[in-house]
Formats: sequence, structure tokens, C-alpha cells
Amino acid sequence: MTTKRITIAIDGYSSCGKSTIAKSLAKKLGYIYIDSGAMYRAVTLYCMKNKIIVDGKFSEAEVLKAMRNIHLSFNVNTVTNNSEIYLNGTNVEKEIRGMDVSELVSPISTIKGVREIVVALQQAFGKEKGIVMDGRDIGTNVFPDAELKLFMTADPDIRAKRRWKELKEKSMNVSLDEVKKNLEMRDHEDTHREHNPLRKADDAVVLDNSHLNLDEQLVFAEKLVQGKIR
Ligand code: DC
Repeated sequence: MTTKRITIAIDGYSSCGKSTIAKSLAKKLGYIYIDSGAMYRAVTLYCMKNKIIVDGKFSEAEVLKAMRNIHLSFNVNTVTNNSEIYLNGTNVEKEIRGMDVSELVSPISTIKGVREIVVALQQAFGKEKGIVMDGRDIGTNVFPDAELKLFMTADPDIRAKRRWKELKEKSMNVSLDEVKKNLEMRDHEDTHREHNPLRKADDAVVLDNSHLNLDEQLVFAEKLVQGKIR
């Protein structure tokens, strides 16, 4: 039986495990994986490093001007086989995960002009299909015609604990309370912003993974994929 190459859009709240599922599906299918949040994080990191954000404050016009000097790309790490983000040719995959970037990325991602540039790039990555992309507006805005859309959610306390454990494992020193507050703040900003807020696409399938392990989630997702590619 022949299989067709499709577009898979995975959206949902912060720290729901979207990237874990997305990476795994991409590897299984031999598809490209793009972490769209990493792109907004890299823009934020650039603005922090170049003093466009100072004491948490910035002017939208200055951020937009800076976009001219920002080049984002992804390369596959040959050891882990995961795609990692590069900012102007430098791998920033680890640096963009810190709490300092997490505190500022949601406000930066609300800027309309920033979103337009980042979304155009995301659409270019996906123009040949055979892509799994995760984020907040992938099924609603970036790829509204995606063949498969997943909307992931989980209990906020469970998400905060998972994220805190992940940061600890990466030796990042942060309290569970800080992580929880950051998640709440980002959920609120991501669902209430004016441009392309996080919402479930009408044709997305909901996956609540509060009480599912990774294998169970993968069985669920792979069944949906099989239904679309055959
Ligand atoms: O997926 P993440 O937590 O790394 O994303 C970081 C932030 O980027 C998130 O709080 C909101 C923003 N984002 C977005 O606005 N649209 C996307 N498609 C992905 C992320």
C-alpha cells in the first residue's frame, strides 16, 4: 500500500509534551521536525543579547528592526538525530530553554510583525509536506490545511512538575513554584493575545496526556497518522 506525505500540526499549552510526541512521530515517518516555539525563543534571545530588551522592557519597533539581522535555521544533530535551532549560524538549542528566555518569549511572540516573519518561514519549511511542527497556532494559522491536527493538554500541576524535572535534569536551578507561575503566565498570554492566539482548531483531535505515559500517547497518535497516510 502506498503512503502519502502529510503535514502534522501539534498545538497545545506550554509543557504538554508536544515536542516529545512530535519528534518521535517525525523520526518514525522520516519527516522534518520543526519546533516553532524555538524560533520565537531564538528571536527573544537575540533581543536580550543585543540589549533590545532591557530590564524586561522593549519597543516593538526596535524588535521589528532587529528581525532584519536575525537568521533562523534548523540542523539535525548527528548524535541525537534531533533537529536543533541555529541563530545566525550558532546553535542556541540549550541557551533558549532557560527561565530568562521563558519569561520574555510570550510578550515577544505577541508582536504582529514578528509573527508574520516567523510564520512565513515556518510555511516555507513545510511547503513540501512531510513535516511535523509543534506550537500554538500551527493548525489554526500556519498550516490550516494540515491533514492531521493534534491539540494537546494536561493538568497544569502535572505539566509544571514535568517541566521542573526536565530543567533540573539540565542542571538549571529553578523552583517548582517559579516554573508553575511561568506556565500560568504563558498559558494566559498565549490564549489571550490578539494575533493568532492558542486555540483548538475545529478539526483538531484533543489529546489530554495528564495520565498517559509516552508509549500510550504514541499509540494514540500513530493510529491517527495511519488513518491519514494510507
Ligand atoms: O513551545 P514553547 O514553550 O517553546 O514556546 C515558547 C513561546 O513561544 C510560547 O509561550 C508562545 C510562543 N509561541 C507562539 O506564539 N506560537 C507558536 N507557534 C509557538 C510558540
